[in-house]
Amino acid sequence: MIVFLIGFMGSGKSFYAKGLSEYLHVPFVDLDQFIEEEQAISISEIFEKMGESAFRTIESIAIKQVYKDLVDRTTETQQKNDILGVISCGGGTPCFNGNMDWMNEHGLTVWINPAEEIIWERLIKEPKTRPLVASLTEDALKEFIHQKLLERKPYYEKAQSVINQPDVTISEFVNIIQNAKNLF
Ligand code: S3P
Repeated sequence: MIVFLIGFMGSGKSFYAKGLSEYLHVPFVDLDQFIEEEQAISISEIFEKMGESAFRTIESIAIKQVYKDLVDRTTETQQKNDILGVISCGGGTPCFNGNMDWMNEHGLTVWINPAEEIIWERLIKEPKTRPLVASLTEDALKEFIHQKLLERKPYYEKAQSVINQPDVTISEFVNIIQNAKNLF
């Protein structure tokens, strides 16, 4: 089984993907990083040169390819029972091209859902590499997070498991995944 980590920009997907991968001794793939390596161009440049809609097409193809790479070398029994790898999605991945339904059919989706204030505090501190928010002032960013989250929640809410409390430890995260895994 593959674990898909979803959630808004700055929600901690990459942090937890890395932590889970170390704890469980399974590979993890950061989808944005995979796309950048594969296309040999940054996410910002893809947005700039090709537009968001082209990025969303590339992203939908990439998630399937990363999934296939992770499961291809394993048996059917392992695919059903074991956690084989963790994929850290982009913030918008679940919201386009039916990706959320596809992920729910192919693995365990976990929504990392910190409070808006926490997301905002993280994003204002991080380097301005995210094209959707790079040019926003701190106040505009706060409003953007609020509006985009409202828009994206219907997709995020389809996740099979949700982490609402901030700062869960990796071992708590693993417990949550193990419990959810037994249900799906
Ligand atoms: C996006 C989030 C980014 C990246 C792209 C678009 C989004 O990923 O995929 O900039 O639409 O929320 P992170 O959530 O990893 O920052």
